[in-house]
Amino acid sequence: MSQNKDYILGTNNEESKRLGLQHNVWKPYVLDCWQRAGITTGHKVVDIGAGPGFATIDLAEMVGETGEIYSIERSVNFTKSIMKLSSDRNHNNIKVFELDLIKDDLPEFKADFTWCRWVACFVSDPQKLIRKIGNMLNKSGVSIFFEYSDYSTWRLAPQNIAVESFVTEVMKSWRDTGGEPDIALILPTLLINFGFRISSVKPHVFCVRPNEFIWQWPSSFIETNLNRLLELGKVTIEWTMNVKNELKKAENNPNTYMITPMVLEIIAEKK
Ligand SMILES: C[S@@+](CC[C@H](N)C(=O)[O-])C[C@H]1O[C@@H](n2cnc3c(N)ncnc32)[C@H](O)[C@@H]1O
Repeated sequence: MSQNKDYILGTNNEESKRLGLQHNVWKPYVLDCWQRAGITTGHKVVDIGAGPGFATIDLAEMVGETGEIYSIERSVNFTKSIMKLSSDRNHNNIKVFELDLIKDDLPEFKADFTWCRWVACFVSDPQKLIRKIGNMLNKSGVSIFFEYSDYSTWRLAPQNIAVESFVTEVMKSWRDTGGEPDIALILPTLLINFGFRISSVKPHVFCVRPNEFIWQWPSSFIETNLNRLLELGKVTIEWTMNVKNELKKAENNPNTYMITPMVLEIIAEKK
């Protein structure tokens, strides 16, 4: 059953671990954004496409016992993970919904905030997603997105053709399954069309060397996604080995820089 609901990146333990590392890399920027957007004690927040629940847990801590987090996720592996994380940490303010954001009817709660990171890029109908998000919010409720606006900014200096071919393959694999990597380019217009006012739009791009913590985020994605692309039959073992070797060579050069795929942080208020 979980297999049928698996999306392009998969939902196995390796991917769950990678999402945990990714969350840790992004945590300072995310906490800063949540505070600027106004999330605080007592608020109700929906985590849209919550994955294994790392942001859900941080949100639960931020809103405290008087607040509430509604965590919506399609994959059973991930909903189980969210429930385990919340019971391990004794959070009684998290409600988990195992639902497809596009195909299923969503619960009729009204929240103060929605949080959506790296989910809109995978859905087949972003218009429907934004309409449903709007329906979940109170008047003046705030919707926050972290989504890519230019995935192809992901490059190495000195130039690394193998890593660039990997980035091209990833974008193709998302588009082949109905997603759009650069979805953030259309989000502001979609949000305005569905009755939101854009409060702020802010780009996040890192330029990091191999010995910096942030390097772990893109490099772990290459590691797990090479396996995934191979498992899905989208690439050959020779191509995979070449990308791995070229990345290793780049990592052995302390003066390599990695420019990460551009993420747009969008904060919008429901009018
Ligand atoms: C890259 S992960 C990001 C997870 C989490 N938002 C984070 O930032 O760590 C994308 C998540 O979106 C979920 N997802 C994708 N399409 C979905 C859909 N139609 N309905 C519900 N969840 C979906 C996937 O199962 C996965 O957990």
